[in-house]
Amino acid sequence: MTTSSNSSNPSQAQTSGMWGGRFSEATDAFVAEFTASVQFDQRFYKQDIAGSIAHATMLAKVGVLTQQERDDIINGLNTIQAEIEAGNFEWRIELEDVHMNIESLLTDRIGITGKKLHTGRSRNDQVATDIRLYVRDEIDAILKLLEKLQKGILGLAAQNTNTIMPGFTHLQTAQPVTFGHHLMAWFEMLVRDSERLIDCRKRVNRLPLGSAALAGTTYPIERAYTAELLGFEAVCENSLDAVSDRDFAIEFTAAASLIMMHLSRMSEEMILWTSAQFKFVNIPDRFCTGSSIMPQKKNPDVPELIRGKTGRVYGDLMSLLTLMKGQPLAYNKDNQEDKEPLFDAIDTVRGSLMAFADMIPALVPNIEIMREAALRGFSTATDLADYLVKNGVAFRDAHEIVGKAVALGVQESKDLSELTLEQLQQFSDLIQADVFEKALTLEASVNARNHIGGTAPNQVAAAIERAYVRLEKLYA
Ligand code: ARG
Repeated sequence: MTTSSNSSNPSQAQTSGMWGGRFSEATDAFVAEFTASVQFDQRFYKQDIAGSIAHATMLAKVGVLTQQERDDIINGLNTIQAEIEAGNFEWRIELEDVHMNIESLLTDRIGITGKKLHTGRSRNDQVATDIRLYVRDEIDAILKLLEKLQKGILGLAAQNTNTIMPGFTHLQTAQPVTFGHHLMAWFEMLVRDSERLIDCRKRVNRLPLGSAALAGTTYPIERAYTAELLGFEAVCENSLDAVSDRDFAIEFTAAASLIMMHLSRMSEEMILWTSAQFKFVNIPDRFCTGSSIMPQKKNPDVPELIRGKTGRVYGDLMSLLTLMKGQPLAYNKDNQEDKEPLFDAIDTVRGSLMAFADMIPALVPNIEIMREAALRGFSTATDLADYLVKNGVAFRDAHEIVGKAVALGVQESKDLSELTLEQLQQFSDLIQADVFEKALTLEASVNARNHIGGTAPNQVAAAIERAYVRLEKLYA
């Protein structure tokens, strides 16, 4: 990266080739650097070149460029793209951004034809187009990662439809659930995340080009053709809106924030579950690190880091919302600040999903320990109440009866299933010997929740079957 060392003396000013006409002195070196974006917007060089090729193709179609000019521009841009990808492109900070860096080199290479590329276009509609193309590509990549993670969860859930663990409310043992059912809750969260991105993609996928600086252009452009060349669903309907609003990037970052929120909830559970106090699951060593002082430590770094990174993405969302707030129409330079938070959100979500897509299918549940935990904490108390209701007791009375039985269990340090029939019968003579297999075993408890959305193993297995079909439709 080179920095301009232009003289501030107007008589020998080297004003910018892009707008020098009006200026009597060169841009201050610090201002040039301060206002530049090429340090970060070079990231979407590919989208910039694709947009320029489509624009030139359209200009040739409507007769603003000759076919020869179009071909020279396209060949020149393709060569530049190859050079960028080979690492042979020198980004110049005094050329401000990715757009002017590429256009300037194109003109150095092909001469006056290069200067015609910007006909009927402004950097305002150019950059808006580039970001939309970029976000669209990233949404597609993120959806692939989500799909991989979702399928990994389904695989693990399918192996654990019969694995019983305590379900929690208030992080206190509540009722037995299957581990497969718990994993399917994660799956549902992530499916909504995919749906949100797919929905957001529709609004991203609109073409701003043709809006020019703000009002449109005097050339006989064919915007629908440019849109078709770039795979946009439609054109942005209003030029002022098209060059200025970044709501699509905000919407994407909001969807990214919700993904991170979900990943942080999953993280928190894995952090708890891998602790010595729970020991519900093992995370394979390759996803963990140790301590430099405590030899026994195996830390769940990946979920901890993802939980922490969630805050970054919320911050990115807040940056973008605040950036856009109060901006008058149309383009304002403020909008150059949209890129870094957007890229940060993209990188963070991609990295986090990549890590979980590998790690979660590799989780190893400690089936016996989960079961032991479910046997503690009176997790079948509701089942005993339901048993009484089925024998004619009103639910509120049943609740009271079971509460007393639990109090006895607490006093004797015994689970309900460990009390004798006689002990149970002192609270209600409706309790019979069949209570143990009908209500007080973990299997009876989960099997009884036998409806769509319930934790019964056969229901979870059916939910997994349906889930594969749903994924197929979602990503069709
Ligand atoms: N680098 C600018 C951005 O990121 C490109 C658009 C600049 N347009 C302008 N009129 N200064 O938004």
